[in-house]
Amino acid sequence: MSITGPRKPLGAHAPEGQALAKTLSWPHLVALGVGAIVGTGIYTLTGVGAERAGPAVILAFAIAGAVCACAALAYAELATMIPAAGSAYTFSYTALGETIAWIVGWSLILEYSLACSTVAVGWSGYLVGWIQAIGVTLPPALLSGPHGGGLINLPAVLVALAVMGMLVAGTRESATLNIVLVIVKLVALTVFVVFALPAFDGANLHPFMPYGFGSTEVGGTQRGVMAAAAIVFFAFYGFDAVATSAEEAKNPGRDLTIGIVGSMLLCTAIYMAVAVTAVGALPFRQLANSPEPLALVLRSLGEPQAAYLIALAAVVALPSVILVMMYGQSRIFFVMARDGLLPARLATVSPRTGAPTRITLLTGASIALVAGFFRLDEIAELANAGTLIAFISVGVCLIVLRRTAPHAARLFRCPAPYVVGTGAVLGCLYLLWSLPSTTLTRFAIWNAIGLAVYVAYGRRASLARRTAAA
Ligand code: ALA
Repeated sequence: MSITGPRKPLGAHAPEGQALAKTLSWPHLVALGVGAIVGTGIYTLTGVGAERAGPAVILAFAIAGAVCACAALAYAELATMIPAAGSAYTFSYTALGETIAWIVGWSLILEYSLACSTVAVGWSGYLVGWIQAIGVTLPPALLSGPHGGGLINLPAVLVALAVMGMLVAGTRESATLNIVLVIVKLVALTVFVVFALPAFDGANLHPFMPYGFGSTEVGGTQRGVMAAAAIVFFAFYGFDAVATSAEEAKNPGRDLTIGIVGSMLLCTAIYMAVAVTAVGALPFRQLANSPEPLALVLRSLGEPQAAYLIALAAVVALPSVILVMMYGQSRIFFVMARDGLLPARLATVSPRTGAPTRITLLTGASIALVAGFFRLDEIAELANAGTLIAFISVGVCLIVLRRTAPHAARLFRCPAPYVVGTGAVLGCLYLLWSLPSTTLTRFAIWNAIGLAVYVAYGRRASLARRTAAA
């Protein structure tokens, strides 16, 4: 056993006579990717990004997209090699050992939970804007947490609890519903570009990089293109949904490449188009920190109906992103419990619905709590820190397994793996470094708690260790 603990053997993940039907082709995979990816990142964090980078938020989207494309390619290869639940956690367990896998799993728990909270807060921003636009006044104390002068962000709490309830009842998003929601989200973003582009004024793009490139703290706010990239990075994840469907692809080599790279390219192109349109239509300072920046742009341009449509699309479509993320969260927790690293009692699956009820209730309540009381950008940044650790580990796993298991079957082979793997690792490290120091401190505390749990419980209860010792 190495210093990083036991590893899972590669062959252990092969499905035993339970291969899933190969029904998906690349258009399905692109839809799956876009469905999981497009959410609060573009609908809301565009404003936060503009505050941090000025018009160069456009560049921030391009940088974050390029880093995520490297991570996505690495995911695709690993998912076809190790088609087991748990994504980055399971890859790390196989390639790097249990201790690293624990850190990655613990980071993924943070990623998925806080991503749900972030999307819930983003959803609340559009819902409230939408309700107020139709002339209904709501009590401000119930619309934002203490940071915004209120008591609690009640809509965010309620949407998180509603999605939790759906998961406990065994709901899964169907492929058809996903396609409908993808269309709703994309049509809304197209409407935004069509209505706001005529107001494009080149003067709004000058100066392009008012706060420079590197991330620095100015007056309590992180500024610079990299500071914006480190937050709009949020807009890109969710593509692991595509990587994990490798088993179901008809022609994995072709379908996964097009599915993953295609959905990444499509989202990057859409995001850049939306960002160019937004910062071209209004001086970037007006977008900063709006809870519903895209609707705000359209209202400011005298297009209340289009603003109303965008908000409606966000309100209808964003809960599905919470559903996918909360589901992913319970899966990670479940796999860690199955491996003995977390108490198995927590991972009990309801025989009626097939859902891990206790985990879902526990995480759903925590997600709702965070959504009710914390600031959107702070939650998103912490979620990003967790995701960046997972992506770094995936880049390392890609390189390590090319060396340690060069002949293992790979349905999809990442092109230029050493370049892509190194790009993912270095790019993510730079993004991590660009996060505010308070986020990094909170993240370190989260992992210190995690390691304490591992030493006190996981290490001793680990199934792999007990099997190795037997
Ligand atoms: N990428 C997803 C979003 O932007 C998490 O909402």
